[in-house]
Amino acid sequence: MSFVSVQNYNKADLFRLFAETKAIKKALSTDKRSCEDIAAGRMLGMMFYEPSTRTSGSFEKAFKFLGGRIYDFNIAASSIAKGESLNDTARMVASGTDMLIVRHKQAGICDHLANNILSIPVINAGEGTGEHPTQALLDMYTIQEHFGQFNITIGIMGDMAYGRTTHSLIRMASALGANIICIASDDSLQMPPSYIQEAEKNGATVTCVKRAEDVIDQIDALYVTRLQRERLPDELHHQFDQQVSGYRVTNSLINRMPSDGIVLHPLPRLDELPEECDTNQRARYFQQAENGIYTRMALMARLLNRPFTP
Ligand code: NCD
Repeated sequence: MSFVSVQNYNKADLFRLFAETKAIKKALSTDKRSCEDIAAGRMLGMMFYEPSTRTSGSFEKAFKFLGGRIYDFNIAASSIAKGESLNDTARMVASGTDMLIVRHKQAGICDHLANNILSIPVINAGEGTGEHPTQALLDMYTIQEHFGQFNITIGIMGDMAYGRTTHSLIRMASALGANIICIASDDSLQMPPSYIQEAEKNGATVTCVKRAEDVIDQIDALYVTRLQRERLPDELHHQFDQQVSGYRVTNSLINRMPSDGIVLHPLPRLDELPEECDTNQRARYFQQAENGIYTRMALMARLLNRPFTP
């Protein structure tokens, strides 16, 4: 079993995983070595073709907290420069390991590796403009931790055209019972229609608007994202840079949210979420990033067939 898309897990799987995440977080808070037998003697392969700070770091910390070892493939020094294919590179990185984490620019590559090339579990750590399913796990876990349930309204703001975290989020949030408001300053950044239709099929109400000001008082969790500048052709950079000013978050904006509202961001953030918001009681993005360690521990323990039991 691999985890390459949010669609691999149903509602019951997710609830179970969040319960395990909570138990792991509690166990680690009293004893940092409490989970080390889960992956003792196991090795994790990591193959990151795109830059990463939080995701690669939290997978590495998570597997080390589970007691396992890491093989982090160095792309710069590899035979890719000699023209080796991705299939062969993946075979070599995976060889001798128990699970492979993959980040790549091409959507669908993890599914291909999991189904056609490898016989160990594969985890999608972000695929181009497609999905980033483990990010949605930590996003929704953070929401459950705060609200205790998922019947809330999530406002997704920023770049939903190219931002893969927003694609996995709308899938998972709608499957768990949340309603969604998509806020894009320009239609070219709006959520692709296929994701909206899928969320509506899941039973969610999905609304698309241009201005956060018009809906902010209805939003329980505001999920801010950056413009994915690196995924755009050069000639569009100037136009997109102008659009950032269309959705810069301020304290006066988020203070108009319901009193228990929270602000999330997958990070890295740029100008859309200034540091002035960090001390706002609604800011949850650093705790959200930390939850990536615990959700990924729960996920990897499960994929090793050794789910955490307190
Ligand atoms: C995101 C990603 O890589 O898609 N970062 C992350 O994994 N937390 C978001 C982004 O790069 O904007």
